[in-house]
Amino acid sequence: MDKLIIEGGHQLSGSLKASGAKNSALPVLASSLLLEGKLTLSNIPHLKDVTTMIEVLGSMGANITLDEEMNLEIDTSNLTNQIARYELVKTMRASVLVLGPLLAKFGKAEVALPGGCAIGSRPVNLHLDCMKKLGAEVVTEGGYIKAKADKGLKGTEILFDTISVTGTENAIMAAVLAEGTTIIKNAAREPEVNDLINCLNEMGAQIDGEGSKEITIQGVKELKPTSYEIMPDRIETATYLTAVTMTGGDISIKNSMPKTLDSVLDKLKAAGAKIKIEKDSIHLKMDGSIKPVDISTAPYPLFPTDMQAQFISLNTVADGRSSVVETIFENRFMHVQELIRMGGNISLSGNTAIIKGKKGSLHSAPVMATDLRASASLVLAGLVARGETKIDRIYHIDRGYERIEEKLNSLGANIERVTG
Ligand code: EPU
Repeated sequence: MDKLIIEGGHQLSGSLKASGAKNSALPVLASSLLLEGKLTLSNIPHLKDVTTMIEVLGSMGANITLDEEMNLEIDTSNLTNQIARYELVKTMRASVLVLGPLLAKFGKAEVALPGGCAIGSRPVNLHLDCMKKLGAEVVTEGGYIKAKADKGLKGTEILFDTISVTGTENAIMAAVLAEGTTIIKNAAREPEVNDLINCLNEMGAQIDGEGSKEITIQGVKELKPTSYEIMPDRIETATYLTAVTMTGGDISIKNSMPKTLDSVLDKLKAAGAKIKIEKDSIHLKMDGSIKPVDISTAPYPLFPTDMQAQFISLNTVADGRSSVVETIFENRFMHVQELIRMGGNISLSGNTAIIKGKKGSLHSAPVMATDLRASASLVLAGLVARGETKIDRIYHIDRGYERIEEKLNSLGANIERVTG
């Protein structure tokens, strides 16, 4: 099993290009099930989760070609089955994103129920409710969601009582080929949902309300082949900006989408970073001590849960007390115990972490990654810890960060990946 060994204490400086967004690439790949012919995608990030989604589609008989630059062509015209198998779904919950498009296009789908998850119970009830509202019969048996819509799906009104990102995406993909109009209320407004909508509209879908809480979809008979470029990954960008805020130094991130990062950039400024935006580049400069920042996670456009762990790391080396409240996932604090082992002064009470930060408080320790963003927080902690931090189970980080050690080393970090 791969490990990362990080020598702490190096300032970071230089420039990076943001990779394509994982959480946009996954639904966009699933949307290829909706059209007759090829979907051509560029800026696909080279990540384990993306490979898993490609395998899910490949196991149904999709024809996929990928060149060295990760330009991908996918053709789902000759599927042999509509089953997302447990062996793949258990490694990535987002596999459930094939449910909506399979039902819309083929009138049937079998998708393994995703099991438990390190960051919370994460049920899929909202996804199933949407499919039922659109007229599908849905049962769960033998560990599988079995859904069918013999007469096709019918437009309807869907109200989410909890905002769900992939739930909204599944509902949109199911509704694009449904008969009539679907209105989704209390929809997720994450930029990745907009990216999916833009791609579907390029294919000929009729979706309005992008970026708002109410999305209207006028069903169409079919979608046409298209080419689409995946948006940049805002969480990857935010993670590197946070790293440099912690180590000191300066960084430019090109090909980013600054306007999707307002809530995070505000908090980094509050921590003392100087930030300049130029078109699609973000420049950050940090010197001096880090001010502690209070965070409460919430759906977009508020502070993303996917940056909560990284900000706990930042607060451990800030100058004073802060609180971090997690409102989206009940168990997303697995990194806290590991950060405490590195010297972080953190106490947990329910969904709130109280951090008593101090410059230089982190030291090396062998630690274990438990999920994707938890791993990122340990890498950031390792960059500023005294001595050599060894992070085990690093496969979690390869699910969502492309060549993380290469990118950080290009800025002056000293990180080595060891196998075994
Ligand atoms: N929820 C339900 N029932 C459902 C679906 C969700 O109760 O059927 C609850 C969840 O348990 C959670 C809340 O609703 O408490 C919101 O979860 P959501 O459905 O929005 O999460 P998701 O769609 O499964 C996506 C991202 C996550 C990100 C969350 C929140 C993808 C592929 N995943 O997950 O990304 O944390 O939205 O923004 O888009 C990551 O990249 O590390 C990651 C976990």
